[in-house]
Amino acid sequence: MRLPGSLGPLVLLLGLELALCRGQVASQYCGPQGQAERLHFTGLGKGRWLDPQARPLGSLDPLYRMVRGFLDVVQLNPFPEGLVRVALNEPSSVRTSDVVRYEAGYVVCAVIAALFLLIVPTVGFCFCCCRCRRRCGGRVKVEHKSMACERGSLMTFLLLITLLLLTGVVCAFITNQRTHEEMGPGVRAVPGMLNSLQGLVSDVPKELQAVADQFSIPQNRVLDELDGVGVNIGSTIHTQLRGTVYPMLASLHRLGQDLQVSLDHLQLLNSSTVYLQNHQEPLGSSLQDHRHKLLSLLQDAQCQGCASVLSHSQLLELGANFSQVPSVISVLQKLKGVPEANFSNMVQKDNSTFNTLPLLTAMETADIVQELKEEVTHIPEQVRGLSEGFPGSEAADRWRQALAEAENSSRPYLHMIQKYERYRWIAGYVLSSVVLLVVICNLLGLGLGLWGISAREDSSHTEAKGEAGAQFLMVGVGLSFLFSGPFILLIFATFLLGGNIQTLVCRSWESQELYQFADTPGNLPPSMNLSHLLGLKKDVSIPSAYQQCKKGAALWKVLQLNGSYDPEKHLDINKYTARLQEEVRKFRVDMKDLDLLNEAAKRDLEAFRSSGIEKIDYPSFLAQVHKPVLKVDILKLIKELEKLGQAQTESALGQQLKQEAQTLQALYQEKILLQQAHAVALNRSVHALSASASNLQLVVSETLVNASTLKTELPVRAHWILRNESECFLNRELAYFNQYGDWAREMVTKHIATCQPLSGALDNGRVILCDRIANPWNAFWFCLAWCTFLLIPSIIFAIKTTKHFRPIRKRLSFWEGLDFFPRLPSPAHCQRVRCKLLISEGRSPVSLDACITCQEAASFWVAKINLYYSLSFAESTS
Ligand SMILES: *[C@@H]1O[C@H](CO)[C@@H](O)[C@H](O)[C@H]1NC(C)=O
Ligand SMILES: *[C@@H]1O[C@H](CO)[C@@H](O)[C@H](O)[C@H]1NC(C)=O
Ligand SMILES: *[C@@H]1O[C@H](CO)[C@@H](O)[C@H](O)[C@H]1NC(C)=O
Ligand SMILES: *[C@@H]1O[C@H](CO)[C@@H](O)[C@H](O)[C@H]1NC(C)=O
Ligand SMILES: *[C@@H]1O[C@H](CO)[C@@H](O)[C@H](O)[C@H]1NC(C)=O
Ligand SMILES: *[C@@H]1O[C@H](CO)[C@@H](O)[C@H](O)[C@H]1NC(C)=O
Ligand SMILES: *[C@@H]1O[C@H](CO)[C@@H](O)[C@H](O)[C@H]1NC(C)=O
Ligand SMILES: *[C@@H]1O[C@H](CO)[C@@H](O)[C@H](O)[C@H]1NC(C)=O
Ligand SMILES: *[C@@H]1O[C@H](CO)[C@@H](O)[C@H](O)[C@H]1NC(C)=O
Ligand SMILES: *[C@@H]1O[C@H](CO)[C@@H](O)[C@H](O)[C@H]1NC(C)=O
Repeated sequence: MRLPGSLGPLVLLLGLELALCRGQVASQYCGPQGQAERLHFTGLGKGRWLDPQARPLGSLDPLYRMVRGFLDVVQLNPFPEGLVRVALNEPSSVRTSDVVRYEAGYVVCAVIAALFLLIVPTVGFCFCCCRCRRRCGGRVKVEHKSMACERGSLMTFLLLITLLLLTGVVCAFITNQRTHEEMGPGVRAVPGMLNSLQGLVSDVPKELQAVADQFSIPQNRVLDELDGVGVNIGSTIHTQLRGTVYPMLASLHRLGQDLQVSLDHLQLLNSSTVYLQNHQEPLGSSLQDHRHKLLSLLQDAQCQGCASVLSHSQLLELGANFSQVPSVISVLQKLKGVPEANFSNMVQKDNSTFNTLPLLTAMETADIVQELKEEVTHIPEQVRGLSEGFPGSEAADRWRQALAEAENSSRPYLHMIQKYERYRWIAGYVLSSVVLLVVICNLLGLGLGLWGISAREDSSHTEAKGEAGAQFLMVGVGLSFLFSGPFILLIFATFLLGGNIQTLVCRSWESQELYQFADTPGNLPPSMNLSHLLGLKKDVSIPSAYQQCKKGAALWKVLQLNGSYDPEKHLDINKYTARLQEEVRKFRVDMKDLDLLNEAAKRDLEAFRSSGIEKIDYPSFLAQVHKPVLKVDILKLIKELEKLGQAQTESALGQQLKQEAQTLQALYQEKILLQQAHAVALNRSVHALSASASNLQLVVSETLVNASTLKTELPVRAHWILRNESECFLNRELAYFNQYGDWAREMVTKHIATCQPLSGALDNGRVILCDRIANPWNAFWFCLAWCTFLLIPSIIFAIKTTKHFRPIRKRLSFWEGLDFFPRLPSPAHCQRVRCKLLISEGRSPVSLDACITCQEAASFWVAKINLYYSLSFAESTS
């Protein structure tokens, strides 16, 4: 969406506002996905807003300012309201005296121009005649000392004026071209502008429809987001509860395992105890028998070295008495059938139930989402009426017609303007070229003349250069005289037109007097009642309409439409969003399936808790377990007996001892070893149980409590998260609609139904007419006038300078002056010449008598001529 520059800050502000709004909506608990993204709408009414044309700045500005200053001096009168009123309403009754009074400055200028037009050509004509009769513009006859000084200053003045002329003509060329270049586009811009204004009202409904159509952008966005809302909310609930549920499940899993281990140990404890108890009686009695036997053998007198073994053998009896350990039957009976539940299975089931929460939520919200979608799909009535509600059709027709007529009727004038402008351009070009020619003649004349003068001392020089210089200057003078009439005519015509445009139109346009004038009833003829033609509201004046439009007011603020229009009414979608709100609040999430502990597991834990496993008298178990099964180390005893048996000299005794050792060995293998193994097993189980039982009991109780609390807490928390999330969701979706509303509001009032083009066209018209066209136009005649008035001193100085460039007779030398007096002079002439000669030769007029008389001179000349011819004849023949 490209917007005109002046709207930049506005858009920025809007963005900021949106950001702020979003900030409010997205309180901490709405995650990053809780924020609405920026929607992109297609900008409309782009061509509508007329960019103001800038007043062109350039190097000619000081000149323009000077010209405007000059015109302000020429036209001191304010805007002539009365005169214009009469001129517009009854052109026939305009009194000339009023016009003259108003245009006094121009009249003065006209008089000056007329004088110029009369005098300069007349003088030129006279000069020409005089020149033809060789009475003026001749040559300096005799050179004397002050001559060089006079010549120098004349040449300097001429050069100076020529240079001023040159600046003037360059300026004239530039402004002539500039005027021509600005005129074409300026004139062509008028129908374009009128055309673009035609759509000002009539295009509005179409564009309003386009705005209404873009309601589908937030709509589609919301529909898209509705697709994922269930899963998203479920995921959020899952994520937020995960931290509680997973540890709980893990601890349940661990508890199940611990429970199993404890039960296993208890079973072992029972079976080991029972075994040990059952076997200790028989073992004890057989040990008793063996002891008796051994003791009798070892106490035999023949027994050699038996004393040490005897003391060992006396210890051959049971160490631990397992009849003294408590019974665990009652505990075991209470734990009968435990574990009823498969804990790992249960935890797995719980976990997968919990993990399907997003999908579950999606399924549970599916119906509501469907209803929401249906709700969203239909466009609110108000928005649909955005275009139809615009009551502009009548105004649009009138408006379009007025502009079409204006365009139609302006067309021939525009053609005419372009045609005359071409003539003016050509004339300006030609006349500027003439001035340029004069400048060139002056410069060439000056150059050649100077060259001629500097070469004068050279005896071999011919006077051709000086003569040519003089001729150039005279050509310049001739051109100046010849074209002075066209110059002044073109200047005055363009001055009168351009000056009046500047002083009558531009000045009052800029100060907005013109709008005021058009607004006063009776000033404009009824057929040109602008208020009526434009269809302005009754209570809006033209200047205020202009000001309001300049600020970008909406059409209905300024124009008289058929009925009222309030875009707010059409962009109010509260009812629509309220329904969405209602639907979204129906979202529910069900967590009943998440049991955590099923009934069987609960029974298991309850049984374990009341089993009394922690109350078993483990120390008395330990007391027995820590005692050895036999008081003697039986393997050592067996070895000693075998050794003793071999050491006996009495073979029968030795044999008996060996036999005893073998039976003991057998007893050990069959009974004692098993007894010892069970004792070790018992030791292990007792240790394990005594270490874990009390702690496990605590954990079981706690878990029972935790599980039941969590079971009631989870749905509540899930409900809160759901509410927060659906609130976030709702706010996000509403933000999309609000974005649309803000955008549409801005579009409608600032871009589509804006009357800015009206004031823009007026401003641009003024810039084109006054700044782009009138300024260079006025500068053009100013520059040309500058040249034209400078031509007068140029002429004077050129004529004066010419004389100095022509050959000078220094004295009455033989060859000089032959062309000067081809005929015999009159007596009066003779007198004049003679006196001049005398003076030039440095004699005082007092000694006039001394000079030759005219008749003498004449005869002298005649003689000289004769001589000349004879000589030249001689030369030509020889
Ligand atoms: C539950 O499932 C999640 C995801 O599959 C897994 O990371 C977690 O370890 C599971 N927890 C238990 C106790 O099985
Ligand atoms: C204890 O162990 C013995 C031997 O294994 C068995 O016969 C008895 O049923 C067990 N008692 C209980 C309550 O399990
Ligand atoms: C083991 O203890 C029981 C009960 O205290 C007792 O009756 C029995 O005599 C004892 N057995 C031995 C061998 O000490
Ligand atoms: C418990 O369930 C798992 C499968 O979930 C199975 O592998 C295991 O054998 C079951 N344990 C018992 C004691 O039934
Ligand atoms: C102007 O409005 C009036 C009622 O407000 C309606 O009857 C009339 O048809 C409208 N005219 C046009 C041209 O829309
Ligand atoms: C414009 O002028 C032409 C002829 O000059 C005429 O046919 C046409 O109808 C006019 N259009 C309007 C809108 O006045
Ligand atoms: C234009 O006409 C309206 C009535 O249609 C009238 O009230 C108003 O004064 C007129 N304005 C001018 C400037 O004549
Ligand atoms: C009983 O078991 C504990 C630990 O398992 C062990 O430290 C101890 O030595 C054992 N006692 C006997 C007599 O085996
Ligand atoms: C039970 O919950 C409390 C507090 O929530 C916790 O500190 C404790 O570790 C939990 N116990 C078990 C066994 O999970
Ligand atoms: C839900 O929002 C409220 C504020 O409206 C907040 O206090 C609460 O912590 C939020 N709950 C959750 C679970 O995000």
